[in-house]
Amino acid sequence: MTLVNDPKISPPYPTATLDRMRPDFVWGVSTSSYQIEGAAQEGGRGQSIWDLFCRQPGRIANGDTGDVACDHYHRYRGDVALMRELGVGAYRFSISWPRILPAGKGKPNEAGIEFYDRLVDSLLSAGIEPWVCLYHWDLPQALQEAGGWANRDCAGWFADHARLVASRLGDRVKRFATFNEPSVFTLFGYAFGWHPPAVDDAASHHAAIHHVNLAHGMAIDVLRDYVIGASLGAIHNMQPARPVGSTPEDRAAARMLDCYWNRAFADPQMLGVYPDAIASRMSAACRDGDLERIHRPVDWLGINHYSPVYARADSASRLGFAWSDAPADAKRSPIGWQIDPDAFRNVLLDACDRYGLPIYVTENGAGAVELADASGAVDDRERIDYLSAYIQALEEAVAFGADVRGYFVWSLLDNFEWGAGYSNRFGIVRVDYATQARTPKASARWYAARIAAHRAKATA
Ligand code: FCB
Repeated sequence: MTLVNDPKISPPYPTATLDRMRPDFVWGVSTSSYQIEGAAQEGGRGQSIWDLFCRQPGRIANGDTGDVACDHYHRYRGDVALMRELGVGAYRFSISWPRILPAGKGKPNEAGIEFYDRLVDSLLSAGIEPWVCLYHWDLPQALQEAGGWANRDCAGWFADHARLVASRLGDRVKRFATFNEPSVFTLFGYAFGWHPPAVDDAASHHAAIHHVNLAHGMAIDVLRDYVIGASLGAIHNMQPARPVGSTPEDRAAARMLDCYWNRAFADPQMLGVYPDAIASRMSAACRDGDLERIHRPVDWLGINHYSPVYARADSASRLGFAWSDAPADAKRSPIGWQIDPDAFRNVLLDACDRYGLPIYVTENGAGAVELADASGAVDDRERIDYLSAYIQALEEAVAFGADVRGYFVWSLLDNFEWGAGYSNRFGIVRVDYATQARTPKASARWYAARIAAHRAKATA
């Protein structure tokens, strides 16, 4: 995949080829445990690395934390009812590892497991398919104290976590993903210091990449063994990595960012090799037989996509690039993220060619700093424009042959947006954090209509 690219297909697109989505195309919404659950000190939950990180002064906008978040732990029934009203066919959520294994390993926490039991049952009775992600960044703090992802043992602890989830939910849940965006949490956590554990150390960073890959392969084996009829995947953020300037040095920097951002996980997991440009950096952690352990067959590739990413040359950077903002003239969302649906279409086509797997878009959406009117309503036309342009780009990719089988909006609810805290809202449903009232935004109604129109066509 060369994600350092220019659009490979140019408009105008033949409209007759649009709306080719499969009749069984999956329309869903996504969330993650730390971002919505709250109940951080309840039901026997252990601490995660994010609980502690949020308490470090200056880390999170306004000093926000996920302690309460959307209180989904208590309000999940209402949230499932909302999804049912929207007509979504699938809900992708993550399991909080410290909620079910407070110390990360050892004794399970029954109250935590029962929460996910109830959630799964309530989804199934609403006719919504649960899509479970085993890890969306909230590592148990106890495991961080044992070295976190820099410790090879963490791969085995993750496989045990996978075994617990599979054995308790695998009778009803069939769709499992291992990790959400491993390149983001390793790069931001072990190289840039923006996310926990906030270290910047080359050896730990490359060890973390490798151990997460190993954990992925081990968990895939466990899930295959324990879940009859499992449909397994991995979720990767894939975005074109572009040079911010036109010098050869900036272009080389963009190629390195492409390696770390798009390929350091997807290539070993789905092709059995590390990209050449980083292979020597992985050798200290990679033992004989590891690539076979990592390269286990999966059934689908989950792609999260929002915007292109940019690199610039920086001779002081040990990674071979520095992170850069998009060029000043880029079209942007209200929170400054570049809007470029062409890039999305090309990523889907490239990923389909490179990995040869069915694709589900497991996250896509638009962030905003929004105000509601007195009734709590939000007329989020910009989000509707974004979603509609990106879904059209997806349709174009399908029309040009990409095997894309589903799309999940990020996110069902406004939620805790990591370093931005509650200031950036990605939900199609507004959350009033003072009262926890949920109000579907205009985009929720638009999405519901889009789903209904596809269903009507598919069943006509
Ligand atoms: C993705 C994360 C998700 C959310 C969106 C906006 O990178 O997977 O948790 O924060 O960005």
